[in-house]
Amino acid sequence: MSDESRPTPAQASVAAVIPAAGRGVRLGPGAPKALRALNGTPMLIHAVRALAASRHVSLVIVVAPPDGAAEVKSLLDAHALPDRTDFLVVPGGESRQESVRLGLDALPPQYEIVLVHDAARPLVPVDTVDAVIEAVRDGAPAVVPALPLADTVKEVAPAAEPGAPEPVVATPERSRLRAVQTPQGFDRATLVRAHGRVTDDVTDDASMVEQLGLPVVAVPGHEEAFKVTRPLDLVLAEAVLARRRLNDGF
Ligand code: CTP
Ligand code: MG
Repeated sequence: MSDESRPTPAQASVAAVIPAAGRGVRLGPGAPKALRALNGTPMLIHAVRALAASRHVSLVIVVAPPDGAAEVKSLLDAHALPDRTDFLVVPGGESRQESVRLGLDALPPQYEIVLVHDAARPLVPVDTVDAVIEAVRDGAPAVVPALPLADTVKEVAPAAEPGAPEPVVATPERSRLRAVQTPQGFDRATLVRAHGRVTDDVTDDASMVEQLGLPVVAVPGHEEAFKVTRPLDLVLAEAVLARRRLNDGF
C-alpha cells in the first residue's frame, strides 16, 4: 500500500472497544461474567487496565450489560486507571456483534484505529496489544492475535442431541490452524463498513472483514490472553495473577 493511500498511520490515534455485555452462561449462574471478581477485582477492570496499559490507546469504550451501564461507570470511578486514557460507557445488546456495533457508534471521529477486546480476556499482556496496533499502523486493515493449537481439531456433523456420537467429517492439518484471540485491531473505516454490511451473527470481528473480501493478518498471540469461558478458566486466571504478583515482588 502506498504512503499516499493512508492518512499518517504512525500518528493515527487508537481507541479500544471492550464488549462486556454478555451474561457468561458457560461460567454458570451469578453476576454477568465481566463483573465477576478475579483476586478481588472485577474481570472488566483487569481488561480495561490491560488495554489502557498501552501508551498508544487514548480512549477505552466499555460496552456494559444492557441494564448495567451505571454500575460499570461507578466501577471505573472506584478503581485506579491511567490519567492519560479517556473512558466511555455505553449499554450493550443481545449479541456480541450488536454490542460491538453500539460501542463503535459511540466512537468520536478522530480515532482512526480501533481495537476490539473481549472483557473476558482480562490478562492480555500489553506487548500483545502493542503488536496488534503496530501491524494496523503498518497498513493491515485487520489484525488478529493468534496461537498454534495444542489439540488436533476434527470437523464433525453435529449431533441433534447433546452427547450423542458425532460422525467425523474431516481433520484439518493442525499446523495450518490458529486459535484467534483479542484485541483484534482494525482500520476504523473498514470495521465500521464490515459492521454495516454483515448481518450473520459472528463470534469475531475479523471474520466480518474477511466477508468483505479484505485481507486479515495474524500476529503472535499470548497464552495469557485466553478467554475466561468456563469455571476452570477462573482458577487459571487467578493462578496467573498470583504468579504475576510473585514475580513483581522480586
Ligand atoms: N458480549 C457482549 N454482548 C453480548 C454477548 C457477549 O458484549 N450480547 C461480550 C462478552 O461480555 C465477552 C465477549 O463478548 O466479553 C466474548 O463473549 P463470550 O466469551 O461468549 O461471553 P458471554 O457471551 O458473556 O459468555 P457465554 O457465551 O458463556 O454466555
Ligand atoms: Mg457468548
